Amino acid sequence: MKTIKTPTGTIKYYKNYVIKKLDNPILKLDQEWLTHYQAVADNNNYLVKVNRIVKENSTFEMERLDIVSDIAHIFNVSQLRHHLTRNVVSEIYKAVNTTWIDSIQYSNDIGLKHGSYFLHGDMALKNILLLADGSVKIGDPESFHIMDRLHYAESYAAMHTQLMFGLQRLYRDKILPFNATHAIDFAVSALEEELEIEDR
Ligand SMILES: Nc1ncnc2c1ncn2[C@@H]1O[C@H](COP(=O)(O)OP(=O)(O)O)[C@@H](O)[C@H]1O
Ligand SMILES: [Mg+2]
Repeated sequence: MKTIKTPTGTIKYYKNYVIKKLDNPILKLDQEWLTHYQAVADNNNYLVKVNRIVKENSTFEMERLDIVSDIAHIFNVSQLRHHLTRNVVSEIYKAVNTTWIDSIQYSNDIGLKHGSYFLHGDMALKNILLLADGSVKIGDPESFHIMDRLHYAESYAAMHTQLMFGLQRLYRDKILPFNATHAIDFAVSALEEELEIEDR
């Protein structure tokens, strides 16, 4: 069975699901947490599905995703940047923004006290995952917690800044999507051929 080490634990791969075990247990990763998470994730397909808690506060089962890369890694590795098509950019924005809106709405629906929100406390580019079919998922579900006074919500704001700066840098450096690069190479060689013909 394949097992990988992640920054905060290990992920064991099975055919249709994975088991994530955290190195350091976190509080309140329990049945009540699962009820909250599933209530939001059942209505938002951008959130990875969590099937069950295997061991309270440390181990849970989630759907197995066919991941190409996380978005932070795509920005960092030039050979991967062709994945950032406008469709994918649109999916990223839909994923993060619908997740945010749904979480706020859910916090209201369950009547959390003033200033408290059930939200993803680590909405960073590394936790936005691009799948092989071109869809996007928000990972790291155990980062969802009831946060008083919008604690940890700044990660969502920082992610937006990094995403926009990353995209602007990508376009400024003229790193075009793979197909566009190909199209330009093709156009340039066609033009060169034409010029050669004229020269003769
Ligand atoms: N549901 C999943 N299915 C398959 N691989 C996953 C899944 N969740 C995470 N991974 C892999 O593990 C990596 C780290 O996952 P993540 O849950 O964000 O760990 P951490 O909390 O330690 O940062 C991801 O980038 C991905 O490669
Ligand atoms: Mg992560």
